[in-house]
Amino acid sequence: MARSLAFRLVTHLVSLIFIALTMRWMWGDYASFPPMEATSMIMGYVSFLLIGLTLLIGPLSAWLPSRFGAACLSIRRDLGIWAGITAITHVILVLILFSGVPRLMILQSNADSPRSGWLGLFFQNYESFYGWPMPRLSLIGVANYLGLISVLYVISLLFTSSDAAKKWLGGSTWKRLHLANPFIFILVVVHGLIYIQSIKGEPHTLSDILLFAFAVWIVRVITFWRAVWNRRR
Ligand code: HEM
Repeated sequence: MARSLAFRLVTHLVSLIFIALTMRWMWGDYASFPPMEATSMIMGYVSFLLIGLTLLIGPLSAWLPSRFGAACLSIRRDLGIWAGITAITHVILVLILFSGVPRLMILQSNADSPRSGWLGLFFQNYESFYGWPMPRLSLIGVANYLGLISVLYVISLLFTSSDAAKKWLGGSTWKRLHLANPFIFILVVVHGLIYIQSIKGEPHTLSDILLFAFAVWIVRVITFWRAVWNRRR
């Protein structure tokens, strides 16, 4: 018990160091953005990386001797917790940034961006007394809805990542919920790609997101076919 607690503490510490180093490494690239906006984007990016890493741990454990299985599960759970914390930080900062008068670079540079208030991320006409608020179904609106679905999923995973929650939900329901992880990753990939392609061209390029997503996918496909091969033998 004490050993597993110490192991989890180490995983959390390593995750924090990973987040701090990634922030430091990316900070220079985002120097042209106001600090809060830069932090928001970096947090979104870190969360994307962490969600991808959680998807790599399952395949990794399949390549390792079975005695590492429990350790891999524990690492995956704790990385997932940090993926959730960084995603929530990203969203909170986005909501703060959009809560007042427009002052973001993206608002100045993009005609499609909401003019004021975070509700404008999801709705148009919401300020008008005439007519109903309509869902924002432009490309950026779709990116926001994909982000919203992702963060709701991530929050559900975060709050059900304990043994107590697993017991409360029941094994198969818990598993069904947690199997949504690859789906969340795809949503986040599309969300990030839309933002990078349509508004936030700098400092990232599409290939930053796509290369990592492709690496995750290829490792998972190879591991899947290896499992099929082993089984057929
Ligand atoms: C799991 C949840 C989410 C993740 C992992 C995520 C990840 C990302 C990534 C990777 C970027 C690109 C950063 C860059 O340009 O370098 C981004 C940008 C952005 N996302 Fe998200 N996102 C999530 C949820 C949301 C939600 C719910 C919203 C609210 C509508 C949102 C709003 C934005 C905005 C406004 C940007 C543009 C850059 C900024 O100001 O941060 N995201 N996100």
